[in-house]
Amino acid sequence: MLTFENLQRQYRLGGQRVNALCGVSGQIERGEMVALCGPSGSGKSTLLNILGLLDMAYDGSVVLDGEVMPKAGRLVQQRQAATLRRSKMGFIFQRFNLIPVMTALENVCFPLMLNGMDRHTQIRLATEMLEAVGLAEFIHHRPDHLSGGQQQRVAVARALVHSPSLVIADEPTASLDSQSAGKIIALMKALGHRQGTTFVIATHDPRMARQCDRVMTLCDGQISEEGMSWAS
Ligand SMILES: Nc1ncnc2c1ncn2[C@@H]1O[C@H](COP(=O)(O)OP(=O)(O)OP(=O)(O)O)[C@@H](O)[C@H]1O
Ligand SMILES: [Mg+2]
Repeated sequence: MLTFENLQRQYRLGGQRVNALCGVSGQIERGEMVALCGPSGSGKSTLLNILGLLDMAYDGSVVLDGEVMPKAGRLVQQRQAATLRRSKMGFIFQRFNLIPVMTALENVCFPLMLNGMDRHTQIRLATEMLEAVGLAEFIHHRPDHLSGGQQQRVAVARALVHSPSLVIADEPTASLDSQSAGKIIALMKALGHRQGTTFVIATHDPRMARQCDRVMTLCDGQISEEGMSWAS
């Protein structure tokens, strides 16, 4: 389970202070898929960056699977955050963010390598995951030889291959045509369901939001839960 309490994040922009999050709290059950909606600038990426330990300069608290997440501080907190990110989390971004010099297979092996898995098992698991996202024939292709939809499928495989408890996705379908977007949503759901993964997905895409179990809406740095279950 993921809980966050009274999250506040202020940015400084020149002499100005921007209140990007003003006391955001919530609770997300294990295996739940939550869409984070709201207008541009409402704080969605700010919240995702905090939940994914990419930004630790905030006030408030985040607890994942009973463990209090580290906040900005010394090297020891940064090391703890790096360990948690690579072992318990997966990330999917709008622009795929694959490593361009690596093949699809090497990209998907990468999180397993960071977690110290032996090469043989890395290749077995990464191959299985690429097969599961329908890319069996493309495992030795580099990202620039794949379409946007195929690249995002590699990114989904990479985000889920190490069975993370939490996947953070920031606008994962925003760069895709509607057919590819639909495939990505379906894959995230199917693979995540198999592993009991929790997803928090920032999206402007109503079709993506409808596929989620629940929608949380942010407005001016505050959450207003619509409390509606769209699971079908
Ligand atoms: N690094 C930064 N420095 C200063 N202000 C920032 C920074 N990042 C975000 N902001 C501001 O914080 C607020 C929230 O931004 P955030 O990127 O979280 O919004 P968002 O909901 O993800 O928007 P979008 O839908 O456009 O991606 C906005 O007012 C934005 O301008
Ligand atoms: Mg954003």
